[in-house]
Amino acid sequence: MSRFFSDRARGMKASDIRELLELTQRPEIISLAGGLPNTKAFPAEQIAEICTDILKNDSHKALQYSATEGIRPLRQALVDYMKRSFHVDGEVDNLIVTTGSQQALSLISMGLLDPNDIVLTTAPSYVGGIGAFRAFQARIDTVAQDDEGLVIESLSEKLSTMKANFKKPKLIYVVPTFQNPAGVTMNEKRREEMLELAIDYDVLILEDDPYSRLRFEGEEVKPVKYFDYEGRVIFLGTMSKLLSPGLRVAWMLSPKDLSRKFAIAKQSADLCSTTFSQHIAYEFINRGYLEPHIEKVKAMYMRKKDIMLKAMDEHFPEGLTWTKPEGGMFTWVTMPEHMDSKLILMRAIKEDHVAFVIGSAFYPDGSGKNHMRLNFSHSSDEKLEEGIKRLGATLKKEMV
Ligand SMILES: Cc1ncc(COP(=O)(O)O)c(C=O)c1O
Repeated sequence: MSRFFSDRARGMKASDIRELLELTQRPEIISLAGGLPNTKAFPAEQIAEICTDILKNDSHKALQYSATEGIRPLRQALVDYMKRSFHVDGEVDNLIVTTGSQQALSLISMGLLDPNDIVLTTAPSYVGGIGAFRAFQARIDTVAQDDEGLVIESLSEKLSTMKANFKKPKLIYVVPTFQNPAGVTMNEKRREEMLELAIDYDVLILEDDPYSRLRFEGEEVKPVKYFDYEGRVIFLGTMSKLLSPGLRVAWMLSPKDLSRKFAIAKQSADLCSTTFSQHIAYEFINRGYLEPHIEKVKAMYMRKKDIMLKAMDEHFPEGLTWTKPEGGMFTWVTMPEHMDSKLILMRAIKEDHVAFVIGSAFYPDGSGKNHMRLNFSHSSDEKLEEGIKRLGATLKKEMV
């Protein structure tokens, strides 16, 4: 049937580790692979209370279609939240509720990217972002990343070389805080410098931020959007990692002239995001549940991060390094150049019953083989410790 596929669909490729990751669903496997919140971090009781109230009092609204841009009270609550928690001034008209940030990535691609347009991102970068841009036939080019995120010199050089060749990217895509996959954070100086370069070369910045509220240590860093005095940053926020990914409630705050186009794109994508979920998210914020809940999640994830890093110190062989995240859900391991995380993953699953995500999944050109991403949010404390012990055993066998 492939003769019926569109050119676009022909270009879409399933990740080559999907089959391997399916194995991770087996009960004997400890998976440090997925980017999932911990199920104990879901505020089920509060959501049950809210659902009962919504169905009793507001079912005529909550079970109906709603505005494409999102229900007004939630949009207003999110604008207030952006001010309170991110120091960003926004207007309700420029904030659109989306069906997860993943939809925002698609809508932005739909609205901005023509085939062969270039999106610049870091190497490594979020695999779902890369996938969304590629689905719209964009080309992905990368700049270097170190322990403090995107390297400005690399961006500057790339933009200048492109200009010399009469090219420029449409978008610079970054996950600047507790990045998925590497857990690293760009400092404010780099954020400002990136923005200045974007202004000089007339490029838009897409700031994807699911994790910054999950900071357990260190100084808060203002979002790139905070420095955006002339309106060229699109900011993505989501309730997925704070409240629940199953609700699929996220938002995008865009420069004025873009939001209208994105709303039109969203109309053709899904008419509106789930109205019921939007009412739940609104009530969760409105009843003052969000901030205390985030504190609980942070305490849980900080404990898990400490357990994981301590176990890594204890069980991983010499010659490996890893990031020490101050928040978020991931740590990123760097192994000696010759090591191939795909081979290690096969061995880890088959022999030691533990899984992770291979580094090359996050590199648009398939490089990065000597890295792996480990998630610390999802597993129980015991499984985290045992999972790292098992992975340490695999790594030791690989290194002899
Ligand atoms: C960087 C990044 N962006 C976007 C998403 C998608 O989030 P959502 O559940 O809001 O679609 C994720 C999820 O892991 C992510 O890590």
